[in-house]
Amino acid sequence: MKQDLIVILDLGSTENTVLARQIRDIGVYSEIYPHDITLEELNALDNVKGIILNGGENRVVDGAAVQVRPELYTCGYPMISVDYPESECEKQYSALPDLDELKAFVFDQCGAEANWNMKNFIEDQVELIRKQVGDKKVLLALSGGVDSSVVAALLIKAIGQQLVCVHVNHGLMRKNESESVVEVFRNQLHANLVYVDATDRFLNKLENVADPEQKRKIIGSEFIRVFEEEARKLEGIDFLGQGTIYPDIIESGTKTAKCVKSHHNVGGLPEDLKFELVEPLKQLFKDEVRACGVELGLPAEMVYRQPFPGPGLGVRCLGAITRDRLAALREADAILREEFAKAGLDKKVWQYFTVIPDFKAVGVRDNGRSMGYMVVIRAVNTIDAMTATIERIDYDILEKIVDRITTEVPSVNRVCYELTKKPVATIEFE
Ligand code: XMP
Repeated sequence: MKQDLIVILDLGSTENTVLARQIRDIGVYSEIYPHDITLEELNALDNVKGIILNGGENRVVDGAAVQVRPELYTCGYPMISVDYPESECEKQYSALPDLDELKAFVFDQCGAEANWNMKNFIEDQVELIRKQVGDKKVLLALSGGVDSSVVAALLIKAIGQQLVCVHVNHGLMRKNESESVVEVFRNQLHANLVYVDATDRFLNKLENVADPEQKRKIIGSEFIRVFEEEARKLEGIDFLGQGTIYPDIIESGTKTAKCVKSHHNVGGLPEDLKFELVEPLKQLFKDEVRACGVELGLPAEMVYRQPFPGPGLGVRCLGAITRDRLAALREADAILREEFAKAGLDKKVWQYFTVIPDFKAVGVRDNGRSMGYMVVIRAVNTIDAMTATIERIDYDILEKIVDRITTEVPSVNRVCYELTKKPVATIEFE
């Protein structure tokens, strides 16, 4: 391994990730482990330089305070504790140490080197992936989202043609999205890519289905079905690549962390399709995943793209999806994104998109009364997507977008700007 490691033991702190981030931000790799790690497990880790016992408000589990195994104090690594009163550490802090104290511990006491960077990370992962996979094949569902794209690029670097990427176009992608997946991965990175255009299949299944939950269920289960069919056509696959990232793992909970949600990416595959998982990004935070993508040479628009829901435009073409409204939505969305990029808003606004309701409104076109669709623009800012505020867009920019959409998308004769925060609205409409 290239990187030195500072181990954080989770003794019920709610700030394990904050601490891990701080340590990585000063250039040293840090990982969070459960409080009951054994001395043997600890000794099996590479390049450990020091340990932080990180206590906090979730320390009491089932009526008893959790503790580290006493044998850990014999490990010989420098150790400090935070909000963990009965520790045998030399230094005990009641709250997170400040940056200077942290640096003194990491660099002076532990003698760690600031050698955490993407180049080293990639070198390590390439080695680990090769060791795990050997000469076997890995299957990966490549949606074109940040995480799956970065995993794909990393796996291509490590094992080249032993990686089989499957891109399922469910017909609910944004304009040129599937095309760019094919361009980047097949043409530029020479990936072994299976492209499946399942548009008709999805849209037929979704015909006349207006209920949002029903739509999501159909899209999700159909996706797994298509992926499964492709997986069965391939031979000799032993591994499944996944874009699991660190927050997914942490949110799924260690013993002392509250379980926020359980994660699965291509979960739901049938039992007889058994794969061992390859998850090379599972120690990275989102911004580190992006940095890794840049280091691997992925285009900026792929690495810095805004969040896009799995069901895609399906939850933005409100009610029962029709092909004409879907096409209008896709064009309107492309115009919005183009104008936001021109105005520099793509770097400022967290998420922005268009929505098309399932009704027509009266308008005037070519000197006559005509019925047309309405498009709604939404542009929101948020930290964690639990609450969101509205971006105050300049009226000149909004009017330009309205002009372009109503001119270039003839079936649309009205554009609105949504001003509702989350809560009371959600970010998406369905
Ligand atoms: P809401 O609408 O719940 O959205 O305020 C919060 C964030 O989650 C995204 N979102 C999804 N992402 N699969 C995803 O991967 C989904 O089914 C899904 N639904 C909503 C949404 O775009 C927003 O960023």
